[in-house]
Amino acid sequence: MCGIVAYIGPKEVYPILIKGLQRLEYRGYDSAGIAILNGDLKVFKKAGKVSDLHEYAKDFDTKGKLGMGHTRWATHGEPNDRNAHPHYSQAGRFAIIHNGIIENYASIKAELTKRGHEFRSDTDTEVLVHLIEDIYENGNVSLDEAVRLALGEVIGAYAIVILANDHPNDLICARKGSPIVIGVGKEPGEYFVASDATPIIEYTNNVIYLNDGEVGHISDGELTVKTIENQVKTPYIHELEMKLEQLEKGGYEHFMLKEIYEQPRSIWDSMRGRIDAQKGFLRLGGVAEYENKFVNAKRIVIIGCGTSWHAGLVAEYLIEDLARIPVEVEYASEFRYRNPVIYEDDIVIPISQSGETADTLAAIELAKSKGATIFGVCNVVGSSIPRATHGGAYTHAGPEIGVASTKAFTAQVTVLTMIALQIARQRGTITDSRYHQLLNELESIPAKVEKVLQLNGQLIDIAERHKDARNFLYLGRGYGFPVALEGALKLKEISYIHAEGYPAAEMKHGPIALIDEEMPVVVIANKNETYEKVVSNIQEVKARKGKIIAIVTEGDETVKQLADYCIEIPECDDVLMPLISVVPLQLLSYHIAVMRGCNVDQPRNLAKSVTVE
Ligand code: G6P
Repeated sequence: MCGIVAYIGPKEVYPILIKGLQRLEYRGYDSAGIAILNGDLKVFKKAGKVSDLHEYAKDFDTKGKLGMGHTRWATHGEPNDRNAHPHYSQAGRFAIIHNGIIENYASIKAELTKRGHEFRSDTDTEVLVHLIEDIYENGNVSLDEAVRLALGEVIGAYAIVILANDHPNDLICARKGSPIVIGVGKEPGEYFVASDATPIIEYTNNVIYLNDGEVGHISDGELTVKTIENQVKTPYIHELEMKLEQLEKGGYEHFMLKEIYEQPRSIWDSMRGRIDAQKGFLRLGGVAEYENKFVNAKRIVIIGCGTSWHAGLVAEYLIEDLARIPVEVEYASEFRYRNPVIYEDDIVIPISQSGETADTLAAIELAKSKGATIFGVCNVVGSSIPRATHGGAYTHAGPEIGVASTKAFTAQVTVLTMIALQIARQRGTITDSRYHQLLNELESIPAKVEKVLQLNGQLIDIAERHKDARNFLYLGRGYGFPVALEGALKLKEISYIHAEGYPAAEMKHGPIALIDEEMPVVVIANKNETYEKVVSNIQEVKARKGKIIAIVTEGDETVKQLADYCIEIPECDDVLMPLISVVPLQLLSYHIAVMRGCNVDQPRNLAKSVTVE
């Protein structure tokens, strides 16, 4: 959710913080703020975008070499200047930025109020910095001890950075449940701290991922990592593979459009080194490592949120279809609280782009506590989910910045397809010829996606005609059903048009009542076993004067007679169809949102990485 960036070292800090916040803005964008420690602690903060903060800060002295910045996604307290981070302590001795939720803030606040503390904001965060100061002033303890003791009292999730007025060479950070990455700079004594590597990558490739319950203290150029319980840890330095160009728009108007267009490459990247159709080779190292578990699994449970949950639905169809293992797909947020039945021989597959989604992490912990094997499918290397799982496979889609997920979805589905094929092969539930045919088809997907991208002009035209619609219905059957859900989600997220995805045949049990001449209905109607049934569903819509936008297989004549608009996508095995049929839906949503003047990359109220439940 919120984004954190901080710096200590020989460089001027303000440009690093502003640029870092711009890179992190996809995590939260309702307000932003900066604290700089240069003689004394100065805080600048503003409701709105990072650009508003930058404009505001122009009138002030922002010199200094130690500082921190924050971009907020509000949880406690509305998004205004007062609630923006950083927050000062009571006497202004400390400042804090925080990502997460302090669940017991109300009781701590009540206690501190009794002791004379006055609060300037409605946030849970401010309570924590007051508590640190209270312990520091009354407990006769050192700076890092005060932070550790305060953290010992809070319940909840946090990634924090603390600056202290009377410690001009110190920066403290800590995490529990929300990520913190420490970049080891190239200059002596230079460190960067951030919620993810995006603001760090242009300065250094060497990073340390703080673990839950750890506190990093940089003091006079030296980093010490301890647990909250004061146990010293030896940090491990990882090398980042991310490249700076991946974080730039590269000539596209929006990150989302860039990421849609990257799909031929990102799909290929998720297969790279793992598949060679000519040699009949397919191997995901992570799956091979758990071969016995997969071969003997009685059940697979998939968990995820949002788009990742939709990828999970595709995987349910794939794994049951090809590998014949029963699959259940659950929203992580439901799974974690509903006392699910989990067996020790279950394999639980959490799917996540960011690797930080709080509900997915909590669901993993629950499944782990019951003895299940946890096999993650994640995009962000080194994030919390891959570190919490027993094994897994990265999707390698590269950084996804647009809040609405596009290339991460197709990379997830690609990896899940490979997992299904590998297990099917191991279990002997797929014939040789079908296996080789699907490997060949999988390798041809990037070229087919490339072809779909050439339909952009047609999608602009359809978007133009439907941009003012108030509702959309998306219908699909079989593999087309999760695609319909994903298409509807894309439209809702970025254009704020109400949209529902439905299994085409279920339409007559409810949504058909909504259909009139005002209602665009997007139907996934590619050639497959249920094609004729979908054609009947289209007829049902037409009979009620609905407008049909159909995604059909190239050369289709039947639907063309019925539909108002037909988008012809290349022929492809039904099993792989989600990978190409979702692309026109991404483009349609994108263009409608742009035409409606919406902020495509940072849609209102949403955040890229949802680190609170
Ligand atoms: C947020 C994002 C979605 C994403 C979902 C799950 O809602 O806006 O794009 O699908 O979280 O995130 P994850 O990182 O776990 O895939």
